[in-house]
Amino acid sequence: MKRLIFATGNKDKMKEIREILGDLPVEILSMKEAGIQADIEENGKSFEENALIKARAVCRLAGEMVLADDSGLEIDYLNGEPGIYSARYMGEDTSYKIKNQNLIDRLAGVPDEERTARFVCAIAAAFPDGRECVVRGTIEGMIGYEERGENGFGYDPIFYLPDRGVSTAELSREEKNSISHRGNALKKMKELLEKEDLL
Ligand code: IMP
Repeated sequence: MKRLIFATGNKDKMKEIREILGDLPVEILSMKEAGIQADIEENGKSFEENALIKARAVCRLAGEMVLADDSGLEIDYLNGEPGIYSARYMGEDTSYKIKNQNLIDRLAGVPDEERTARFVCAIAAAFPDGRECVVRGTIEGMIGYEERGENGFGYDPIFYLPDRGVSTAELSREEKNSISHRGNALKKMKELLEKEDLL
């Protein structure tokens, strides 16, 4: 069976990837499982560029097909911040308690209708023969007035789904994966790989 490497070291992501891409006719491996180590500088200007940079670099090292993702939170009132800098916002080692409180503070006095935000996930595919493609998945929501919920990670406690009245940190893993930006992007990538017969 052909192999497909997903350029991540994150175990939770690998679990979600295996759940969604599991029935493709390929063996799915993490970088570690494929024996690849790489420290890639993500210096693109968009989620798509960063995902492509990662996929391309790992594909070159591995000589096999590679998928890579890049994701983050866009807040409309802050002109899309923290965006592609979501992990680095206020420093990589700053706790999300502090980052989340800072974003809530920056939105002080901003009414509901201007607190719109989305999580974005770009997933890129790179093939040894030079073919490339990229897809984007999103989930729309709004920035709340306080942190809520214990599940998830990162900005989940301040990202609310107004129609459900909960933050994404209040959803179970399965609930979140079924509607998340990453889940949506993975489903799109799966469709593209199948439809275009790319595997
Ligand atoms: P990565 O590209 O998946 O490593 O994500 C980059 C950053 O975006 C993370 O470190 C988080 O700050 C933020 N982020 C991405 N997806 C989510 C999510 O589902 N919940 C909360 N934060 C997220």
